[in-house]
Amino acid sequence: MPPPLAFPRITPSEITPPAVFAARRAFIRSTGALILAGGLGSAGTVAFATPTPRERLAVSRRSPLSTSEATTPYRDVTRYNNFYEFGPDKDSPAKHAHRLRTRPWSLRIEGEVRRPQTISIEDLLAWAPLEERIYRLRCVEGWSMVIPWIGFPLAELIRRADITGNAKYVEFHSLADPEQMPHVRTPLLDWPYVEGLRLDEAMHPLTLLAVGLYGEVLPNQNGAPVRLVVPWKYGFKSAKSIVRVRFVERQPKTAWVKAAPEEYGFYSNVNPAVDHPRWSQAQERRIGEFRKRPTLPFNGYAEQVAQLYAGMDLRRNF
Ligand code: MTE
Repeated sequence: MPPPLAFPRITPSEITPPAVFAARRAFIRSTGALILAGGLGSAGTVAFATPTPRERLAVSRRSPLSTSEATTPYRDVTRYNNFYEFGPDKDSPAKHAHRLRTRPWSLRIEGEVRRPQTISIEDLLAWAPLEERIYRLRCVEGWSMVIPWIGFPLAELIRRADITGNAKYVEFHSLADPEQMPHVRTPLLDWPYVEGLRLDEAMHPLTLLAVGLYGEVLPNQNGAPVRLVVPWKYGFKSAKSIVRVRFVERQPKTAWVKAAPEEYGFYSNVNPAVDHPRWSQAQERRIGEFRKRPTLPFNGYAEQVAQLYAGMDLRRNF
């Protein structure tokens, strides 16, 4: 994930070598005495303050688009994160994201729409029934998780956005407030964090606007109060803490493509046949497991999404 200058020490297989992982698990176990037992996981330790009060979310159904694979434990989902606005280490978001204020929160919908609008998070939550979707998440760094998200299809938002015929792509902008997000002051990325999808990718039924996980409101470190989840693409496409959705005619310039265009492409579909310039993408380590598993084309969602790319050279359009 990280561009070479900022993170010279990281290579994919190093990201969490088994020994470090074991040590980390041992650390988590050793802090167990400080952990308050929670329903689904463990809330709050000294080192990893769970920033938001945990709040349950009502869900209408479990989506049939869910995988039946075992889910990654709550504590790993919420303590092993990438959210560079809060720092570069995997535990930085869990340590620092309590500084993020998620209320009031609104989302600006603009660009190629007939009527730009600003919608509060409360109104957004009422736009469609919330469902649980259990998805695999494959990070470009070589690790993966299985996460029970809560949200609704992004297509619902697009339907209500009333877009014009010029809209070909969608841009997602994360909050970039240096008062709440200390690393926005550093030049790691050209802030705000911007991601993008082609309109048909954005409309695809698998593309989720997530507001929760594990039956609860999203923890701040996972991108509260609203984030994207695009399960057939590398995790960095799933922008967190979104404040702006912009419909545009031209392919967006995303933050990672601007930072390292030879390493990160606009499409970023999970593809075991196309290596990252600095590491192989053929395998992945599921968090909590030691043996690597093969990475599947489109992260295992090929049947649903491969036709979106019919006729495209996926080596060139990586
Ligand atoms: N969104 C923002 N705004 N900032 C980030 O640094 N990291 C991305 C993505 N969304 C990131 C972001 C990366 S690299 C990954 S793998 C996923 O979030 C991680 O999501 P998770 O921490 O909830 O597992």
